[in-house]
Amino acid sequence: MTDSPILTVGLDDRAYNITVGRGLIARIDEVAGAQLADRHVVIITDDAVAPHHLAPLTAACARTCRRVDSLPVASGEASKSMAVLAGLLEDILALGVDRDVVLVALGGGVIGDLAGFAAASLLRGVDFIQVPTTLLAQVDSSVGGKTGVNAAVGKNLIGAFHQPRAVVIDIDTLATLPDRELHAGYAEVIKYGLLGDAAFFEWLEAHGADVLRRDEAALRHAIITSCTAKARIVEADEREAGQRALLNLGHTFAHAFESVCGYDGRLLHGEAVGVGMVLAYRLAGEMGLCPGQDGGRAAAHIAASGLSTRLAEIPAITATTSALVNIMRRDKKVRHGRMRFVLPRAIGDSFVCDEVPEALLTQVLEASR
Ligand SMILES: NC(=O)c1ccc[n+]([C@@H]2O[C@H](COP(=O)([O-])OP(=O)(O)OC[C@H]3O[C@@H](n4cnc5c(N)ncnc54)[C@H](O)[C@@H]3O)[C@@H](O)[C@H]2O)c1
Ligand SMILES: [Zn+2]
Repeated sequence: MTDSPILTVGLDDRAYNITVGRGLIARIDEVAGAQLADRHVVIITDDAVAPHHLAPLTAACARTCRRVDSLPVASGEASKSMAVLAGLLEDILALGVDRDVVLVALGGGVIGDLAGFAAASLLRGVDFIQVPTTLLAQVDSSVGGKTGVNAAVGKNLIGAFHQPRAVVIDIDTLATLPDRELHAGYAEVIKYGLLGDAAFFEWLEAHGADVLRRDEAALRHAIITSCTAKARIVEADEREAGQRALLNLGHTFAHAFESVCGYDGRLLHGEAVGVGMVLAYRLAGEMGLCPGQDGGRAAAHIAASGLSTRLAEIPAITATTSALVNIMRRDKKVRHGRMRFVLPRAIGDSFVCDEVPEALLTQVLEASR
């Protein structure tokens, strides 16, 4: 299959392939045949994705699997909850599955995280395959094995590392993705350029508009470059003891913004990350760690991509600056009481910083309102 390049995430006995191409859902029996043949497959999806993409996936699975079932949950972040997980596990068990079952996550990051965690906990761990259908999931959440659900006190606080057996990225699924979701996912693509690949950022400055108008070649290049970057980082640091943290560029800010908006769709994760990355550059600039012109370039491309760059552009954020700082202090990434930020040194160069002065953080947030 020359049109479907295969990347590998090299994790010893848990290594897996990422296949990127067109029309892959309808031939998943070829693409992931080794993981599916003669198995009982349970497809987990959501009710916005199912009408578009479930039928071809089910048909392709049926050609090679012993049995195929599907369980749709409601679309949206609210499905990443203990309540939905509990119902899902009971429903899967009611199908009479054994440890030979394979869960297939067909959907965005919500479905990938939920189905992945279901796979990690069901019968003490069963196989799962990621079939991501949002740009965000195709470039980020489907690779790397972070799975989980949200807790009442915060996002992603209950979960497990559980690697998929395969990631099948069908670019055609993006045809039905709402424009706003495409733009939000693009923020994570920009992230890979900013955190470690200046040449890719330069390519995005020239071709980002093509990605956003869903040009196939541009999407393919953006997805493959992003997945390759993520795979290399995960291989080097599967459990985030070190460099995997760089993937959180802009995210300490973003998680606080999302938290005060209540995950109700007024502010998407990628939209929050766009503003968060701009603020990371501002903060690093104020700390004398990064040239202001690099921050200007990052902000210019984020704005040119139709994403917000300032808190002032997000009316849903009514919380005070000190409330935002308090939430950042409680972020999962906080170590020994110190706030942890990924900060840039330049376009394409970033590092983890535990020494952010709170007064500067406050100043940068205030200046963005
Ligand atoms: N595990 C990780 O490493 C990781 C990394 C980044 C983000 N995440 C998580 O990912 C989640 C966000 O993922 P997301 O942005 O994909 O959101 P999502 O899964 O909610 O999908 C966004 C929306 O698009 C719809 N949709 C999905 N694919 C579609 C398609 N092809 N056509 C039409 N509609 C479609 C969904 O129903 C939903 O309404 C968050 O919960 C975040 O915490 C996880
Ligand atoms: Zn993210």
